[in-house]
Amino acid sequence: MKLANMPLYTNLDRVERGLGALGIAPGERIAPEQLYTMDQWHYHGLEAVDAAARTLGIGPSSHVLDVGAGIGGPARYLAHKYGCRVTALELQAEVHAVGVDLTRRVGLDGQVTHVCGDVLTEPLPPASFDGVLSLLAVLHIPDRPRLFARLARLLRPGGGAYVEDLCERAPFASRDLADLRTIVCGVTVTSPDAYVADFGAAGFVAVAATDLTPDWAPYAAARLVSWRANHDAYARVHGEPAYAAQERFYTAIARLYDSGSLGGIRLVARVP
Ligand SMILES: C[S@@+](CC[C@H](N)C(=O)[O-])C[C@H]1O[C@@H](n2cnc3c(N)ncnc32)[C@H](O)[C@@H]1O
Repeated sequence: MKLANMPLYTNLDRVERGLGALGIAPGERIAPEQLYTMDQWHYHGLEAVDAAARTLGIGPSSHVLDVGAGIGGPARYLAHKYGCRVTALELQAEVHAVGVDLTRRVGLDGQVTHVCGDVLTEPLPPASFDGVLSLLAVLHIPDRPRLFARLARLLRPGGGAYVEDLCERAPFASRDLADLRTIVCGVTVTSPDAYVADFGAAGFVAVAATDLTPDWAPYAAARLVSWRANHDAYARVHGEPAYAAQERFYTAIARLYDSGSLGGIRLVARVP
């Protein structure tokens, strides 16, 4: 399946509709906080970004690369709360465009630079970032060894990488694999050991992996329950197709955790 057809990346007008429901018209100024329930496309929202900032030691002088930035939620939050500069790299032009608009409207365009491109090929200055963040994006990227080799070159000496992603805990049954490929667009979902080995082969040191499955599996189950409970309110603002697309995605993810094959993982590593 094409990434743009993945349920999570369809109905991209949902942020604008959500803002409309708050009485904010297209193009109008937004306070950063007004986006927080809409622009964090990963587990545990701002809490996860704070954990990354602490681990990477991000402060006002830091320059962070956000790989697979989505509509820029984590990038804006880092810039707003920690005063750093962020390069928000996003593959999909439509998703990138939403991010550019939101960043301008919250007044963070001096700190957050949106770049539309493929992290495997986009020219970026070597040794220019203090930290790399990537939340729920590496699963979409077909060549992880090449990705990590690039990230290692983009970091300044001593710079760190903080990645949260999906992983494989046990071989996927064929039906599960089909859902993983078509509904989740997971092309690189491997065992934790293979993940750690790729970091090491790319020259990263102090590679630490944390199994997030005990936390993420119930989170995904609860997310589906509350999504369904909120059906009427969501469908009223966004329409049935938008509701159904997210439900399809949340249902598949919850089922994949249930199968025992899907897991969540955090990897922290640095370059020497
Ligand atoms: C689940 S979203 C997460 C967005 C963001 N990290 C967040 O947590 O809000 C993953 C994003 O990675 C992007 N992506 C996938 N492959 C990419 C690539 N090769 N280069 C840059 N971005 C990519 C997708 O288009 C998608 O917007």
